[in-house]
Amino acid sequence: MSSVDFICKTLDDTKELAYKFAKLIEKDGCFINLYGEIGAGKTAFVKLVAQAIGVTEKVTSPSFVILNEYHSANIPVYHFDLYRLENEGVKTIIDELREYSESRQISFVEWAEFSQDEIPFNHIKINVTYDDDDSRKYSFVGVGEDCEKIVEGLKQ
Ligand SMILES: Nc1ncnc2c1ncn2[C@@H]1O[C@H](COP(=O)(O)OP(=O)(O)O)[C@@H](O)[C@H]1O
Ligand SMILES: [Mg+2]
Repeated sequence: MSSVDFICKTLDDTKELAYKFAKLIEKDGCFINLYGEIGAGKTAFVKLVAQAIGVTEKVTSPSFVILNEYHSANIPVYHFDLYRLENEGVKTIIDELREYSESRQISFVEWAEFSQDEIPFNHIKINVTYDDDDSRKYSFVGVGEDCEKIVEGLKQ
């Protein structure tokens, strides 16, 4: 496992981090789980990465629809928000989610903070924490060889 933390003092810092991350995943894709309380900055990060990759549609929170997809960039981007699913519900869709980790695509999943279930395929976990100002901590963990490489790339 490979991990790295970033403190983003402003939204501009988060943008810089998102652009760096986008460069590392835009060619081959990646499956990314985002954890953190409401308002932490999960959707904000997804929006910035999508922008960096070249998504031209407006990126909105999929809280009510569970999945938004974007096909305007060179690689498809899928954005799930499982906030409305009960913990049991999350377990039942792991196999469907697995399909979004295969082949060349970028899949973001915003998990409800109560769910830290183990994901049985390669992925990157991003844990977002915050106090009460604009400062956010983005903690990355890469699980599986390709994802560890991406996290190592963030350190450079
Ligand atoms: N450094 C920062 N990084 C990310 N978001 C920030 C930052 N500072 C302020 N924000 C704001 O915090 C809010 C995060 O909301 P959102 O991304 O929707 O949270 P979540 O999806 O985790 O519930 C946004 O309004 C965003 O503009
Ligand atoms: Mg959100």
